[in-house]
Amino acid sequence: MQKLNGKIAVITGAAAGIGLALAETFAREGGRLALIDRSDTVLAVAARFGPDHRGYVTDLGDEAAIEATFARIGADLTTVHILVNNAGIAIITPAESIPTAEWDLTMRINLRAPFLCARAVAPLMLRQKWGRIITVSSQAAVIGIEHHASYSASKAGLLGLTNCLAIEWGPHGITANCVSPTVVETELGKAVWAGEKGERARAEIPTRRFAQPEEVAEAVLYLASDAAAMVNGANLMLDGGNTIR
Ligand SMILES: NC(=O)c1ccc[n+]([C@@H]2O[C@H](COP(=O)([O-])OP(=O)(O)OC[C@H]3O[C@@H](n4cnc5c(N)ncnc54)[C@H](O)[C@@H]3O)[C@@H](O)[C@H]2O)c1
Repeated sequence: MQKLNGKIAVITGAAAGIGLALAETFAREGGRLALIDRSDTVLAVAARFGPDHRGYVTDLGDEAAIEATFARIGADLTTVHILVNNAGIAIITPAESIPTAEWDLTMRINLRAPFLCARAVAPLMLRQKWGRIITVSSQAAVIGIEHHASYSASKAGLLGLTNCLAIEWGPHGITANCVSPTVVETELGKAVWAGEKGERARAEIPTRRFAQPEEVAEAVLYLASDAAAMVNGANLMLDGGNTIR
């Protein structure tokens, strides 16, 4: 039996990495997908899953573009049941050297865009009295990591946002949760954690390895499913036990 059974799911950052694994997992489970990315390869990804699915080339830094995309999704697919806020960027810089523009860009993509996407789906989810909002945060939301100040602050902000959505929209059949992975072996993860730095980080994780994109996708799938109806405002750590120490 498929777990999503025709549910309409928006996934941001779906052209690569965790977002691509999410799209593959959700398609396998019978979801109808609206895939958003700034890269136009998202169109080919959506087409690969068949004619029921759609791709949207959108820069999530642009508020007007986000609003226009969600209007198109409403027109194309009628509603949204599941929103997965996955797209994100990581610019790694020592705190004392972070340019203001770099800080602002990180907040714009990692924190403001998930809020704008959640606000865009709110009328649909509130009307149908059913919704799932799952946001990909990070272990950096709960522990300090060298040179991650802007990234870490943006990811911690997502936990605060999610807590408030969970409280405000929970009474209306909508749950909001985060998943917080350790390093995931995507292009972004491999770029930041290459070489000896990565070896050291791996050795410190109790499971002695980084996460795979598919492992994140399976956790998000659970939170999107009917089975997780009582999970609301949670931050599910996918970190091999890295942050318990
Ligand atoms: N890889 C890791 O180690 C790791 C660990 C913890 C959390 N995360 C989080 O998981 C999420 C996905 O990361 P990933 O490793 O798959 O990254 P990735 O760089 O491999 O893929 C990110 C996708 O998001 C898209 N994107 C980026 N900025 C965008 C924008 N402005 N508008 C539209 N699309 C945009 C990119 O085009 C790309 O397709 C991010 O939020 C990241 O912070 C990643």
